Amino acid sequence: MASDSTPLVEVRGLSKNFGNIQALNDVDFDLKEGEVHGLLGDNGSGKSTFVKVLVGIHDPTAGEIFIRGEPVKISGPKDARSHGIATVYQDLALVDELSLAQNMFLGRMPHKSVAGVIPAVDYKQMRERAEEILSERLNIHLDPTTKVESLSGGERQAVAIARALVTDPDILIMDEPTSALSADSTERVQELIKTLQSNGIAVLMISHDLNEVFDLTDRITVLDNGDLVGTIRTEDVVEDDVLGMMMGSMPTEKAPSA
Ligand SMILES: Nc1ncnc2c1ncn2[C@@H]1O[C@H](COP(=O)(O)OP(=O)(O)O)[C@@H](O)[C@H]1O
Ligand SMILES: [Mg+2]
Repeated sequence: MASDSTPLVEVRGLSKNFGNIQALNDVDFDLKEGEVHGLLGDNGSGKSTFVKVLVGIHDPTAGEIFIRGEPVKISGPKDARSHGIATVYQDLALVDELSLAQNMFLGRMPHKSVAGVIPAVDYKQMRERAEEILSERLNIHLDPTTKVESLSGGERQAVAIARALVTDPDILIMDEPTSALSADSTERVQELIKTLQSNGIAVLMISHDLNEVFDLTDRITVLDNGDLVGTIRTEDVVEDDVLGMMMGSMPTEKAPSA
């Protein structure tokens, strides 16, 4: 049974091999309710592989995953969503010619029966739900019938995030959500992450922007060449400590784990 101290996600001894490449080697990790957790490491350290295992894109070679204390096997993105885990795909996945609401519900439009028989997309419900997610979860006010092509970079990223919220997740995973954005858009997305957290959603974010990581995260986990270096509380370290961790060494005189 989950208690207040049970992590939302707990990963024990996770390894993932691709042929003879060991992308992850015996990684332990936990995500607490309502936290923003940064996942850092140099290129090739295994960050994307780690989140792809969590969202069911890759099967782990070894290790266990617990969601709210229960052991789970996550066999695909749909399965991940049923456990309350959603991912934000980059805004490249949006369809310009469709409205914001249509993009949010792409592939999962709410249906109704017309005259009791023919299933039809319930556009009214879709627009209402889109507006509700945007305004209540993200505190942004965009008309859901607007076509995505007329949105700014930051707004597009907001729609990509809103799309991930359609299944009402309590865990949101973002792989470099701001890496392709302008300064303005980046700021907008960072505000959205804070809003998500204040609405009780736990966020696992990969980022290589240390300013952003220090501004947004509660804890940081660092990988180095597939190995876990450690997890620390952001308030206990400075940037140099984290840079040292990215080269494989824990800061001295710091608590080894948080
Ligand atoms: N689908 C794959 N097939 C083979 N090797 C892969 C695959 N995905 C990742 N890798 C390898 O696993 C290692 C970790 O990659 P990745 O998780 O993408 O790192 P990061 O996201 O930290 O840059 C790298 O050596 C990469 O080349
Ligand atoms: Mg990556």
